[in-house]
Amino acid sequence: VEPLKVGLAGLGTVGGSVARLLQKQESNASESNILATRCGRPIRLVAASAKTKGELDALGLDGVRFVDSPSGLARDPEIEAFVELMGGEGDPAKSAIEAALAAGKSVVTANKALLARHGVALAAAAEKAGVSLNFEAAVGGAIPVVKTLREGFAGNSFDRVYGILNGTCNYILSRMESEKLSFGDCLREAQRLGYAEADPTFDVEGFDTAQKIAILASLAFGVQVDPDAVYVEGISSITPEDLEAAAELGYRIKLLGVAVRTESGIEQRVHPTMVPLDRPLARVMGVTNAVTIEPAGFPPITLVGPGAGGAATASAVVADLADIARGVRTMPFGRPVSQLAGSRRAPMQRH
Ligand code: HSE
Repeated sequence: VEPLKVGLAGLGTVGGSVARLLQKQESNASESNILATRCGRPIRLVAASAKTKGELDALGLDGVRFVDSPSGLARDPEIEAFVELMGGEGDPAKSAIEAALAAGKSVVTANKALLARHGVALAAAAEKAGVSLNFEAAVGGAIPVVKTLREGFAGNSFDRVYGILNGTCNYILSRMESEKLSFGDCLREAQRLGYAEADPTFDVEGFDTAQKIAILASLAFGVQVDPDAVYVEGISSITPEDLEAAAELGYRIKLLGVAVRTESGIEQRVHPTMVPLDRPLARVMGVTNAVTIEPAGFPPITLVGPGAGGAATASAVVADLADIARGVRTMPFGRPVSQLAGSRRAPMQRH
């Protein structure tokens, strides 16, 4: 059987983990190559691009060709699927993904910033080319929340989707509470552990969560992804005293992303929220993420799991590649792009 030949752009924490995971599976004897067994064919990393060739050499992979430019890799005739793990909401990630789609190659990306800004246009390009644009790794790390919202309830509508979508913030709030440490000390720890974005303001001021809830809102409610439609407030002004006061009242403060159906449309917001201690989300501590989904007429369903870091994110990227290897093609936002409604700016109100 022909393997799915993959080109990977970006060899940072997540890219390196994906490369190692694919190579480890391929080097297993066929009966223990779980991935090939599940897909009916192996998945092979054949080429990669990174800022320097040294990044590829440092991974010590066998037989992976270095390609200078991400867009060149995206168009490479040998590859069938292009994985974009460079990050950044514009070029070179955007033009590389466009090049891959235009060349008829399926794309996997973890790039929530790019999807939040250009998700609709990229989904339209994928639809036109008849290929996949998969992004499970963009939200919730290893938790299969994109698949759950996109495919798990095809015949149901949703009332509300909300969750802890930023591992750095949840780690900081957890440590501030358990260790009585300051916000700054906990942020430095999170950075040291590799959870935070290059610019941590992005995490702690809520923008990372806003991009993720905009993506989930699109999947759940069929609105266009639009981070500007999200009301955003971060955690940088929360103090250990606030956390203590909340606990005395029977609550825990969590940074939540919320998308909810209201009478006037779909409201999207991010802010520190008092969560009653008996709710599943209140018990989620550390870098863990969690999403609660409320399909109309059902009790809530909560998914909890590792939300950041190389291995967790890589597992979602590889699951997306597995769908491509199997020949499964899903519309990126679970419906034709022409069916996505406009987003409206959420009012500044609390529930
Ligand atoms: N900085 C992000 C977080 C990484 O802390 O959750 C995963 O998107």
